[in-house]
Amino acid sequence: MKKVGFIGWRGMVGSVLMERMRQENDFDGLDAVFFTTSQVGQAGPDEQPLRDAKDVTALMEMDILVSCQGGDYTKAIHPGLRAAGWQGYWVDAASALRMSEDSIVVLDPVNRKLIDQGLEKGIKDFIGGNCTVSLMLMGLQGLFDAGLVEWMTAMTYQSASGAGAKNMKELVMQMADVGSAGRELAADPASEVLELDRLISAKLNDGSLPIDQFGAPLAASLIPWIDSALDCGRTREEWKGMVETNRILGTEADPIRVDGQCVRVGAMRCHSQALTLKLKKDLPLAEIERLIADANEWVRLVPNRKEETLAQLTPAAVSGHLHVPVGRLRKTVIGPEYITCFTVGDQLLWGAAEPVRRMLMILLGRL
Ligand code: HSE
Repeated sequence: MKKVGFIGWRGMVGSVLMERMRQENDFDGLDAVFFTTSQVGQAGPDEQPLRDAKDVTALMEMDILVSCQGGDYTKAIHPGLRAAGWQGYWVDAASALRMSEDSIVVLDPVNRKLIDQGLEKGIKDFIGGNCTVSLMLMGLQGLFDAGLVEWMTAMTYQSASGAGAKNMKELVMQMADVGSAGRELAADPASEVLELDRLISAKLNDGSLPIDQFGAPLAASLIPWIDSALDCGRTREEWKGMVETNRILGTEADPIRVDGQCVRVGAMRCHSQALTLKLKKDLPLAEIERLIADANEWVRLVPNRKEETLAQLTPAAVSGHLHVPVGRLRKTVIGPEYITCFTVGDQLLWGAAEPVRRMLMILLGRL
């Protein structure tokens, strides 16, 4: 039985991973060992004492290590493990090793071939991709597989969960404060809406909302900046859009151009994206729809109508689900090969835990 060590299983992504593994009975037939960075010796989820996640010797006993602990942990531990000669598989949700020559960024419905080739070549590090990129590729796989995409812009509407658990709580606290400030006037049918607006604007700007995590109010507002600045004028999140898309697709030698603006909005755990693509040829819309809808078992094509859009193509509708709806699909007035669409996906499922869970199943020969 393979020994699989889990690190960071209690965090947000780790908890979603544990939940999915329990749902799928993935723990059957594997020897799971739970590690901790802070509570060595306390009882783990299997009632066994937690092992020390910084103890290289203990980690080296594992055939596979699965980390949701974060990039700092990866950077602190992974090089030492490899230098000590550990030959096991490292499966990681953090971005630290995504650009390493010895890793593969995993999204198996899209790049199973690359994963299998990597395994044959002896690659041992398999890393989950950026959430926005993974969700976009799950939605538009059909167009990429057909080699149709000349370039794409992704304008994102990213949820609080992408920034972390504390950010989700801060968003709700901000919403609560804004809600309390405006409740009385909003509920009064006779009140002047501009008075309500003045009140809320004042609340957003009077310095009273909690902003330790986001650095600015997100409730009743948005933040058009995600991650750090790069010299090229893009944020790191925007830079990842092109780099990781091509890394997952294996098209780095002749990259597909991807650019856009990444924006944080007040959604809890679903990232949304408005995409504009230039296709390499003018195809009938029905053919484009068929390619998108048939690409994998999770994508759902939503008819470009108001009723279905409101019911199926919102973070509220998609939260907690593995399916990835793509809707608002149409040709644009720019030209027949320029199309636009909108997609939504759960940032913690296909955006984080699911590719990692499935990579573990591939390593165990179950997928
Ligand atoms: N960087 C993403 C975000 C989440 O901030 O939403 C992780 O991929």
